Amino acid sequence: MFDGKKILVGVTGSIAAYKSILLVRMLVKAGAEVKVVMTPAAKDFVTPLSLSTLSKNPVLVDLFQEGSWANHVLLGRWADVMIIAPLSCNTLAKMANGFCDNLLLAVYLSATCPVIVAPAMDEDMWKHPSTKTNIDKLKSFGNRIVPVEKGELASGLYGDGRMAEPETIFKFVNDILYLDRALAGKKVLITAGPTYESIDPVRFIGNHSSGKMGVAIAAEMAQRGANVYLVLGPSSLEINVPGVFVKRVESSEEMYEACAEKFPSSDIAVMSAAVADYTPISKSKEKIKKTTDTFRLDLAKTKDILKSLGQQKKNGQLLIGFALENNNEREYAMNKLKSKNADMIVLNSLNDAGAGFGHDTNKITIFEKNGDEIAYEQKTKQQVAKDIVDRIIKMMYA
Ligand code: CTP
Repeated sequence: MFDGKKILVGVTGSIAAYKSILLVRMLVKAGAEVKVVMTPAAKDFVTPLSLSTLSKNPVLVDLFQEGSWANHVLLGRWADVMIIAPLSCNTLAKMANGFCDNLLLAVYLSATCPVIVAPAMDEDMWKHPSTKTNIDKLKSFGNRIVPVEKGELASGLYGDGRMAEPETIFKFVNDILYLDRALAGKKVLITAGPTYESIDPVRFIGNHSSGKMGVAIAAEMAQRGANVYLVLGPSSLEINVPGVFVKRVESSEEMYEACAEKFPSSDIAVMSAAVADYTPISKSKEKIKKTTDTFRLDLAKTKDILKSLGQQKKNGQLLIGFALENNNEREYAMNKLKSKNADMIVLNSLNDAGAGFGHDTNKITIFEKNGDEIAYEQKTKQQVAKDIVDRIIKMMYA
């Protein structure tokens, strides 16, 4: 089942560490190659000998072992998936804040693969606001959390916080490796954010796009295994998502150039940027002085990136565009599907509260080339990104 898969199991100091022995055994039995990294505290709960015997590999604990340096970067890159089970409250806090005072944390920070964590702690600790903040931070890094279970805890109390059973973690790993990794090896080109069309050295024509929707799609694509090239207009968002390469551009012309170069080698292109439709014909090198009572600015149409990619599209490539409308939404969206030779148009209506520029939520309707039309409820942009990527995957394998 896991033949040829490389799995890195991280074990931290928690009573639930005994379950990691069973997990390692199940993974090895399923055909995976397993390496185990432990925190020093984990050794008080399970012995490296048990884990090295079951994993058939030496267990790593220290950054320096027997006079040599454990290469955490290579380990982080070796794995197809890293599972930290159990994840103690202490290691969780360190991961959320970028601490690196042991080998397990160094490997975590170097890992380029999906990371799954299975927290284990007492209910009061689990419910503490700082734990919640730390878990949210891990989620924002793209890490996957195996939900804790209710049951008897190490303290003798009954409640939430028990680490999931090894069978549940095993299934979670299976889903990540196979179902959730449907885009493994695929190259995806995404545009996001506004463009700024320069008038003079201090002024430009721009728009209110934040880039949030496109960035959420980029993160979701990467989560499913894609190699993402994100062409991002001037947005204040800081993006640090494994699997997403960010090319910052400013004008529609720069965005066009970046897309024209990358599209031929892309499997999927998602054009979510709010590209300026017009740009000043001449851009003044000097700051324009207010010497006249009226001021006229001549504009020329920008290149339509989506349309131009639609003209070059080859068999096997998927092209997705966006439409932001405030009247005749359906008709305009369907027209765009045809006129731009897109496979899918994602419509946001300006009439829906909580949709469009700047919001953290969006409400979309997807129009597909085969005639399917799916209207969704208002959701967070992350959830909307999931819906869009699910449809793209469905279309890809149809
Ligand atoms: N788009 C693009 N290049 C442009 C303009 C838009 O790639 N120069 C893309 C957007 O990223 C989006 C879609 O085209 O995916 C939007 O379609 P478009 O017809 O340009 O929408 P509007 O700008 O709203 O145009 P109109 O005013 O004609 O509705």
